[in-house]
Amino acid sequence: MAKDVIIACDFNSKEEVLNFLSKFENEKPFVKIGMELFYAEGPEIVREIKKMGHKIFLDLKLHDIPNTVKKSMAVLSNLDVDMCNVHAAGTKGMMSAAREGLTRPDGTRPLLIAVTQLTSTSEEVMQQELWIEKPIDETVMHYAKNTMEAGLDGVVCSPLEAGKVHEVCGEKFLTITPGVRFADGDVGDQKRVATPAKAREWGSDYIVVGRPITQAADPVAAYKRCVAEFLGE
Ligand code: C5P
Repeated sequence: MAKDVIIACDFNSKEEVLNFLSKFENEKPFVKIGMELFYAEGPEIVREIKKMGHKIFLDLKLHDIPNTVKKSMAVLSNLDVDMCNVHAAGTKGMMSAAREGLTRPDGTRPLLIAVTQLTSTSEEVMQQELWIEKPIDETVMHYAKNTMEAGLDGVVCSPLEAGKVHEVCGEKFLTITPGVRFADGDVGDQKRVATPAKAREWGSDYIVVGRPITQAADPVAAYKRCVAEFLGE
């Protein structure tokens, strides 16, 4: 199974992201493009980075009625991204519609994953504001199961949850895990972190790493270190 390091390119202009990627001469890292950059620069930035030879995880977290999500996913599929995502809270119906919209006439499609509960939502807020009465860890696993039943490829989760997700949804179901930090690095605002090596040990399929690479004095060296620790090379 493909395991890889995805760099979270949390930049808000084309100039910044292209300047960052220009440092990589021999590697073509898998990159994550989020809403900030996509809304600032539009689909052209995806085409441009794709043309440079990078794989792209387009992190737009779609959540709308099934018909709208299906049609929007068809547009993203034409952009030839490699991975995109939805909110599992949109329901199994919405997730299946997303998968259908993403599937090209030849049957191929980008990987499609779901966000379960955002890590910014605490159990307290989930229960008292959203009126979801179950404990948050059970809710996350239930949403992961819904995601699998809707025929999606995996979920975004903490490296600490990757093993449990695989237990519930099977080994082939992908876990894409942010919250990765080097043992000797800054944790920043992330709360539940793991090193690349621990993430591998706990079963992450893809780690999403932002600041430990983008803010490093030598981003290429930091990326290589991350790959070496995660893939054990
Ligand atoms: O800089 P850092 O390594 O913390 O970046 C992690 C990336 O993963 C960011 O783009 C962040 O928005 C994203 N993310 C996260 N936690 C989640 C979901 C996504 O950190 N639960």
